[in-house]
Amino acid sequence: YGCAMNFSDSEIVASILSSEGYSSTKVMEESDLILVNTCSIREKAEYNVRQRLRIFEKNKKKGALVGVLGCMAERLKKKFLEEERLVDMVVGPDAYRDLPNLISGAEEGEKGVNVFLSKEETYADIAPMRLDTNGISGFISIMRGCDNMCSFCVVPFTRGRERSRNAFTVVAEARDMVDQGYKEVTLLGQNVDSYKWENPENGEKVSFAQLLVMVAEVSPLLRVRFSTSHPKDITDDVLYAIRDHHNICNYIHLPVQSGNSRILDLMNRTYDREWYMGKVDRIYEVIPDCAISTDIITGFCTETEEEHKDTLSIVEYSNYSMIYSFFYSERPGTLAAKKYEDDILLEIKKKRLSEVIEVYSKVAFEVNQKDIGQTFEVLVEGISKKSDQELKGRNSQNKMIIFPKKGGVAAGDYVNVKVTEASRATLRGICL
Ligand code: SAH
Ligand code: SF4
Ligand code: F3S
Repeated sequence: YGCAMNFSDSEIVASILSSEGYSSTKVMEESDLILVNTCSIREKAEYNVRQRLRIFEKNKKKGALVGVLGCMAERLKKKFLEEERLVDMVVGPDAYRDLPNLISGAEEGEKGVNVFLSKEETYADIAPMRLDTNGISGFISIMRGCDNMCSFCVVPFTRGRERSRNAFTVVAEARDMVDQGYKEVTLLGQNVDSYKWENPENGEKVSFAQLLVMVAEVSPLLRVRFSTSHPKDITDDVLYAIRDHHNICNYIHLPVQSGNSRILDLMNRTYDREWYMGKVDRIYEVIPDCAISTDIITGFCTETEEEHKDTLSIVEYSNYSMIYSFFYSERPGTLAAKKYEDDILLEIKKKRLSEVIEVYSKVAFEVNQKDIGQTFEVLVEGISKKSDQELKGRNSQNKMIIFPKKGGVAAGDYVNVKVTEASRATLRGICL
């Protein structure tokens, strides 16, 4: 459950457990140990995890151990372990090395808890066990935690302080992926642009822009993506790295959250509307064919109809290729929960959400029309969902392109595709 970072953590957990002799199974009935990696970002995410845990009660009755990992650990440890007795273990994001120990405790009937948040842990030395992979595209976590205090957000509380991983282990992991045949890697962090690592041996500093280039230089055939960029931290150096390296993708996920300066201030995002627009301008100026996507929250505390319209207009202004939008969900313990009243009615939040999606659909449709007639390099991911006579893949801008099969073209290949049709969500074309 949750974001890509959580998924990447599951790969670290799988690696830790496999070196202890555990193996994974796809058959639920066979499992002796069930670990659920949880997310706390919105109320809905928590609800889903609880539903899942109820299903596992059956397995628990038959003797399987059930553990909760990840972002819900800290907040709900007491409830899960003591009050609801749903699980045997609760393990926070920085305590995965302790899992084998906690599991053996649980086998003896002790309830295992470790939700300690570390200032240093980056799992730098652990080679993730790739899960649920197509063998083409994978993730590397380059940092953990977050030091921004966006008022709506639980992440700083669930994942602790920001820390960056040793740059050389990042590069080594990318090299390893290339050796295994991977063609695409996404560097992950809550705020990748504030990545900074200092080599303790010589005091040399590595910035995010430098790390991007180091990874891009591993192989020209390895596409490099990254997520997430905080508008306040993305630098021109990062834009130049994208512009100057063919295999660093022309795509930036740049969450705006709101288009209104007063709301952005309440959200503690540390930029205002004009500043964000300036950033968007700068990106298109340096990388004219860059695609930008965003996250938006509707109905944040005290948001007026007028202020919501500012969000609609910034969607139009920014020409987003993709948006991920959510209605505001108050999270216990956050600054917003303490300071502001969650005063926008759910139906208003939802109405605003649907208006955001409506404007975005129009914008994305128009943006995509400009791709018709253009040829893009596409990394083939496999057979398209709808027809086994068609292949799918993405271009550098992270847009999905569908095209008829062509002899000799297989998943993992780079091909040139000329776009002939465009809708809001997909492009169609022919393989040249
Ligand atoms: N680090 C990233 C975002 C991580 S959370 C950033 O700074 O942008 C992913 C997205 O979930 C956020 O961008 C936000 O749009 C959404 N989100 C976070 N907390 C939320 C909340 N309390 N209610 C609704 N959406 C939320
Ligand atoms: Fe949350 Fe803000 Fe950190 Fe993103 S930057 S994880 S929204 S606190
Ligand atoms: Fe990710 Fe959810 Fe945690 S979005 S960082 S898993 S709260």
